[in-house]
Amino acid sequence: MKPSQIVEGLWSVGAVDWDRRLFDSLIPLPDGTSYNSYLVRGTEKTALFDAVDPSRTDILLENLKDVPSLDYVVAHHAEQDHSGSLPAVLEKYPAAKLVCSPKAKGILVDHLGLPEERIVVAADGETLSLGGKTLEFVHTPWVHWPETMCTHLREDGVLLSCDFFGSHFAQSGLFVEDERAIYPAAKRYFAEIMMPFRAAIRKNMDRLKALDIRIIAPSHGPVYGRPAFILDAYRDWISETPKNSVLIAHVSMHGSTGRMVARLISALAERGVDVQAFNVSAVDLGKMAAALIDAATIVLASPAVHVGLHPNAASAAFLVNALRPKARFAALVGSYGWGHKMAEQAVGLLPNLKVEVLPPLFVKGMPREADLRAVDELAETIARKHREAGLA
Ligand code: FEO
Repeated sequence: MKPSQIVEGLWSVGAVDWDRRLFDSLIPLPDGTSYNSYLVRGTEKTALFDAVDPSRTDILLENLKDVPSLDYVVAHHAEQDHSGSLPAVLEKYPAAKLVCSPKAKGILVDHLGLPEERIVVAADGETLSLGGKTLEFVHTPWVHWPETMCTHLREDGVLLSCDFFGSHFAQSGLFVEDERAIYPAAKRYFAEIMMPFRAAIRKNMDRLKALDIRIIAPSHGPVYGRPAFILDAYRDWISETPKNSVLIAHVSMHGSTGRMVARLISALAERGVDVQAFNVSAVDLGKMAAALIDAATIVLASPAVHVGLHPNAASAAFLVNALRPKARFAALVGSYGWGHKMAEQAVGLLPNLKVEVLPPLFVKGMPREADLRAVDELAETIARKHREAGLA
């Protein structure tokens, strides 16, 4: 994408990656992504904010071809999708200083071998004037690394937020065009990398309240011309109150566990409980992560494989545990041939969850009518727990 002006003196100069389908060898990118880099020209000095993924270095440098000099390169975040092309940028602009948070300095040196003598650390709240453009550096740790920070452009009311408020969403335009399309992309992005850090993000959101923010320009996805859209969404997602919703992560081999899951979905729906069910043998992990934001109960459903959980169920449990969702309850259902240790294994995989584990429900062989009635009772228990917690 060619450079585009956001407001007078602020340009988007990064790259859109329409084709990328996987991030961190883990996160699906159904809508591609972008690595947004911003150029700010004051009357006296010029600064670049964040670079791009190394695979798109040529695009960034092409977009900077008419920029003869940079005084500062601000690195909000040391992860390589924003920092990977910093060495090329610093080589092109040998007089530029690299500005980052104190924590970022060591990480950038370790990960990219950047020369320490070119790095200037910015304290929380420190300001820097480019001439008519005042930069205020706001430390926002743990969105989603410890060194992350944002920059507030005071005169323009623009927050350059890097990963904070981002979305993996490729589009040709600069600003959010359809909030309904961006919402699920931003939600899954939050779930995938921000959800474990809700407490830190709450503090950072409080910090931002004092700032005049008219535009939010993140480093992934489109720019928010109506910041309330994404700020309100984040306030909902970082809340510790889940919704009247159950996430079922399930896998079946010969249909026994599958029958129990089908019955559970119906029984929960009959009781007015929202159900988000994911077959973890062919799952969009981003979609499942997004559903974890709202789930009050997480159900893991698995057949026994070598007396333990099906490996795909174990993998899903491992991911759920890593994302530390706000769920209040967990339930285990499944089937086995002759014996199993699935309950002990599942509980052992979920130490980060602060949940009440409901009595597990495992059947030997194909579920019979009594087993399916037990599934109904589990649904009733879940619905009642949600009511008692004030969620329904
Ligand atoms: Fe977009 Fe944490 O990097």
